[in-house]
Amino acid sequence: MEIKRENLIATLGGEESVARLDSEAKADALEDFLSNELDKALTSTDPHFPTVAEVEQKIPTRHFRMGVGNLFVAQAPGAKVKLLPPMPANPTLYDFFELRFAPANHVLQSAALAMKNGMPEEIILACLLHDTAQALLKADHGYWAAQMYTPYVPEKTAFAIKYHQALRFFADPAYGYVYPDLYRRLFGEDYVPLPHIRADYEMLKKHSWYEAPRLVTVNDYYSFDPDAKVSIDPFREIIGRHFKQPKEGLGNDNSPVAHMWRTIARPDMAL
Ligand SMILES: [Fe+2]
Ligand SMILES: [Fe+2]
Repeated sequence: MEIKRENLIATLGGEESVARLDSEAKADALEDFLSNELDKALTSTDPHFPTVAEVEQKIPTRHFRMGVGNLFVAQAPGAKVKLLPPMPANPTLYDFFELRFAPANHVLQSAALAMKNGMPEEIILACLLHDTAQALLKADHGYWAAQMYTPYVPEKTAFAIKYHQALRFFADPAYGYVYPDLYRRLFGEDYVPLPHIRADYEMLKKHSWYEAPRLVTVNDYYSFDPDAKVSIDPFREIIGRHFKQPKEGLGNDNSPVAHMWRTIARPDMAL
């Protein structure tokens, strides 16, 4: 695999930032950089966007499918999945963040941006959770995540999580949201969103809660900064106020989505 040195250094925050990293941190950063195709697309400066046909031609070149959850595959060629730390008996949202979603930089930075921008608490919580279902599945992750969180969060938060996925495909100059180049790389420059995404967009345009998922797309933050202090601590009060943590633990509460949490807790179960 060819690694463009300038791309790697740029994603690490420049030459000075790299000089401050010890060798273990450099190894981790390199592993992160190479860890999956999504990251490669995020950091790409290639001016050429593939066509839908070219994107499809790559499918049989991989040993995994692009929609697979992050917990379930080591995407770098030859890499192995890691032994996961055990979960506590009654796991909380914090345990899932620390032990299964980590490093979760993207969602933590998105929530931090939403907080900095003065968003309502329901939206900050949506930003914090919006992509966490990618541990389970990347395909249709907004819909999976909304289902996974519906029993535990305000209705508007679940709505925002669910529909951020559809709205991300549609620019909205009124909110300063432009169609991301990332999508041209991942889906192809001539990609047309699927019928359910288009139908949801048409529904959302007339919906009184349109702004909720739109604000998630606006605060979606793509950055890899090893110096950034990303922690869940600034969001503990919001989580405490709006997240209904089941006392039995997520996965043990017999809710309609408990199996999703159990699968994330134990992704090494063979059946
Ligand atoms: Fe997303
Ligand atoms: Fe996101």
